[in-house]
Amino acid sequence: MSQPKKLFIKTYGCQMNVYDSERMAEALGGQGYVETKSPDDADMILLNTCHIREKAAEKVYSELGRYKGLKAAKPDLKIGVAGCVAQAEGEEIMRRQPMVDLVVGPQSYHRLPEMEAKAGQGAKVLDTDFPEEDKFEHLKSRPKAKRGPSAFLTVQEGCDKFCAFCVVPYTRGAEVSRPAARILDEARDLVARGVREITLLGQNVNAYHGAGPDGDWSLARLIWALNDVDGLERIRFTTSHPNDMSDDLIDAHADCPKLMPYLHLPVQAGSDKILKRMNRQHTAEQYLRLIERLRAARPDLHLSGDFIVGFPEETETDFQDTLSLIEAVQYGSAFSFKYSERPGTPAAERAQVPEDEKDDRLQRLQALLTRQQRALQDAMVGREVGVLFERPGRLEGQMVGKSDYLHAVHVTAEGIAPGDLRRVRIVDSGPNSLTGQLL
Ligand code: SAH
Ligand code: SF4
Ligand code: F3S
Repeated sequence: MSQPKKLFIKTYGCQMNVYDSERMAEALGGQGYVETKSPDDADMILLNTCHIREKAAEKVYSELGRYKGLKAAKPDLKIGVAGCVAQAEGEEIMRRQPMVDLVVGPQSYHRLPEMEAKAGQGAKVLDTDFPEEDKFEHLKSRPKAKRGPSAFLTVQEGCDKFCAFCVVPYTRGAEVSRPAARILDEARDLVARGVREITLLGQNVNAYHGAGPDGDWSLARLIWALNDVDGLERIRFTTSHPNDMSDDLIDAHADCPKLMPYLHLPVQAGSDKILKRMNRQHTAEQYLRLIERLRAARPDLHLSGDFIVGFPEETETDFQDTLSLIEAVQYGSAFSFKYSERPGTPAAERAQVPEDEKDDRLQRLQALLTRQQRALQDAMVGREVGVLFERPGRLEGQMVGKSDYLHAVHVTAEGIAPGDLRRVRIVDSGPNSLTGQLL
């Protein structure tokens, strides 16, 4: 038998890219590839890229530069670029980096084995179509290897919202939902391989409306069906848009036993003027009222958000409105970014906020968010939570897992295995994690 070829995949960007990288590795497994952790002994290097901010996109070119020597020493080495930069700048990549053999956009991964075969014969291949067929249906199903306790499962892709700053509608295309039966099959398969927690993924996951046996299903319907999958213990979903938070989904937070009390619900800004210019299609007040409804359904819900500072025409007063909104919500965690001009998006054409102003606002915003995050984490001390254990910690006999609220929790005790879900009392709160004792 011939030696298996080695595949090195490097993943940037969001969780959807993490999921896609797994699926691409499986698809190329059918071509005789096994994964390697280092580019040095790879026969194929695949960069799964992100275009969301300028810095993320630039990383691709510097990373490719680092492979020049490898390619010179091993002319058979194939280099591929996948993901959102491939979609947005495919032809430019081929032009700027002639050592790239293959460029594949996020909707064409099922064509990867074919493309790899062509590249193997020395051809340069580029596919950034948005084909009619569902890439997931055509990708080989996941092989039956054992897996860690936590997995991602993409249920919806693309976005029709067109926020004025965002490239996603262009790189991932229009919203598409996978059929419910496929998702349930994949979930059962994951559970059979050791998975206990599934995070449903979509750029606009709560707009999910996949075909079910009796018409289209909402995300809440899908979550309730997953709730009945034996052996699955926890369900999460991300990322949601405030305007698609339907009543049945809010109710699920009250009643659905396996749905975890943690919700990532980005608002981006707290000023109605900026929200309007961002094309977010809701006001700060509407967002706050939605949070109230969610907390009425699930009082202990931890909220997480995304924020952009220095969006074009954002004044100090607008920025203060964002700080006030954050004070009103009290986030359990959050991600914040300086606005980055993205080619082809409406906001890139507008008057920009100076860089030092953006830096200053980001610092002040992050100081507030860090204080909130820490306060909510400290408030866990003394409470009992579920912890899904994932891996050994650094100390002897220590295991690390995730709480229902997604905090990292360290416990030192005998007899805990990865995949165990146990009740834990939180006894201490450190900078980035909690310490607990088994109950
Ligand atoms: N679909 C999700 C996430 C999109 S990208 C949503 O609607 O929330 C993840 C985050 O990146 C966004 O929430 C936003 O905060 C940030 N982001 C997107 N485009 C950006 C840009 N041009 N500059 C800075 N941050 C950006
Ligand atoms: Fe981008 Fe807005 Fe769509 Fe989210 S909802 S992916 S921020 S366009
Ligand atoms: Fe980045 Fe594409 Fe995800 S731009 S954030 S990898 S959808």
